[in-house]
Amino acid sequence: MSKKKILVTGAFGFIGSNLVEYLVENNYQVLAFDRYNSDSSYGYLENSKYFNDIEFILGDIRDYDSVNKALKNCSICIHLAALIGIPYSYISPIAYLKTNLEGTYNVLESIKNLNTEQVIITSTSEVYGTAQSIPIDEKHRLNAQSPYAASKISADHLGLSYYNSFDIPLKIIRPFNTYGPRQSARAIIPTIILQCLNADNELKLGNLHVQRDFTYVLDLCDAYLKAIKCNELYGEIFNVGSNQMINLNRLIEIIFSKINIRKKILSDNARIRKKESEVERLQADNSKFVKFTEWSPKISLDEGIEKTIKWIKENHHRFNKNIYYV
Ligand SMILES: NC(=O)c1ccc[n+]([C@@H]2O[C@H](COP(=O)([O-])OP(=O)(O)OC[C@H]3O[C@@H](n4cnc5c(N)ncnc54)[C@H](O)[C@@H]3O)[C@@H](O)[C@H]2O)c1
Repeated sequence: MSKKKILVTGAFGFIGSNLVEYLVENNYQVLAFDRYNSDSSYGYLENSKYFNDIEFILGDIRDYDSVNKALKNCSICIHLAALIGIPYSYISPIAYLKTNLEGTYNVLESIKNLNTEQVIITSTSEVYGTAQSIPIDEKHRLNAQSPYAASKISADHLGLSYYNSFDIPLKIIRPFNTYGPRQSARAIIPTIILQCLNADNELKLGNLHVQRDFTYVLDLCDAYLKAIKCNELYGEIFNVGSNQMINLNRLIEIIFSKINIRKKILSDNARIRKKESEVERLQADNSKFVKFTEWSPKISLDEGIEKTIKWIKENHHRFNKNIYYV
């Protein structure tokens, strides 16, 4: 039987590159789509051990023609391409609408006109805003506390409207915070690890009172695989998270002990968000997704942090340890 071809958008990024490799390992043919660049650089897939098994296409998610062309001849689409940094969404909100909303429109509109078997859109737990009650199930109210969250809520709803209006084979996965090798230094776990590895005596962070629910990236990749294989997820949204909430101080303690270091923890004004924009706590209720797919995360936070520290140590040349990434 010939392999099913999956288009992964945002394939060179953190989740995308891990997912492409995971899909190849699980016998799918993958077309990796990411932003055109004149060096023909394939990001984290450049040095992948599966490089020769992956097809590549450079384009722009904001451009209907390149998305439509990439989708032709693919049975499945997993849509990840997005701008994801919250601080940068304060600086350039329109870029988030063009990439995250119009980019999703380009995927949906293409699917509407093609015979694609299924499309999985990637949402985010940021759409809930600070939890009103925990754990958060899919009925929790939505609250856009940043332009990033607003762009993702809009994209989710555009997707649902295409399902309702045009019967497109849509599934929506809503990951909570994901971490692991290849994540940008903007995210909280790499930020802490990198600062622990530099020469400063201080660890500079933003709001020290946040609480989050973390999933290791390969567990999220497995959730996508289970979502592809499940025949029942159409037209609905599914939380993917560990159901465990951890506060920042505990997270820092774990990383300090793994690296065997202690630093003074400072709340840096430049990193603090406006109160109304700060999502204070997130904890998933993943039971709806688990009920349909029997997914369960396999990698503990302890083990996942060890793997992430190892990867950052081996790849420290990729990061400038002394700047604040937004
Ligand atoms: N990382 C998390 O904790 C997390 C949690 C929930 C949801 N998500 C969602 O998962 C998806 C992937 O996030 P990530 O953490 O891997 O981010 P990332 O920034 O590492 O990856 C995003 C990818 O999208 C690509 N991209 C951006 N603009 C593009 C354009 N105009 N055309 C083509 N490609 C473009 C980037 O080049 C990049 O490779 C996003 O949709 C994000 O909202 C991430």
